[in-house]
Amino acid sequence: MEKTFIMIKPDGIERRLMGEIIGRIEKKGFRITKAELKNPTRELVEDHYVEHKEKPFFEELVEYISGKTVMAMEVEGDNVIEVMRFMIGHRDPKLAIPGTIRGDFANKLTENIIHGSDSPTSAERELKLWFNH
Ligand code: CDP
Ligand code: MG
Repeated sequence: MEKTFIMIKPDGIERRLMGEIIGRIEKKGFRITKAELKNPTRELVEDHYVEHKEKPFFEELVEYISGKTVMAMEVEGDNVIEVMRFMIGHRDPKLAIPGTIRGDFANKLTENIIHGSDSPTSAERELKLWFNH
């Protein structure tokens, strides 16, 4: 069964959206097979977002997540990687369609509630990074 890495970001936790998001994942029929509140080190966040290391928003992004409380999850189901990306919605709040998590709750580019792996390679890498320490 396919697995993906989902993270409820610090603004999602602070805004008490954990239950809402977990509810959507479960109602879709996916299974949450690991879930842990974590306060990731800067090193872990930099590694997680290594693909964006050269981008102008990298520093702000790392600062927003490092040392804050996040919910790290392993979620399992058919086509879970692609379907979770649809359920999460577009990163640009102007393009995030209502009905998606970001479309319903996010209105900022950096603080956008939730992360989901974008491919099988990323899912495997991110699950290892967050859970096999
Ligand atoms: O999260 P997603 O895969 O949809 O988007 P991304 O393009 O991989 O960017 C990763 C994260 O960086 C986003 O979710 C935002 O939190 C942040 N970001 C940002 O702060 N400013 C941007 N211009 C683009 C992304
Ligand atoms: Mg991404």
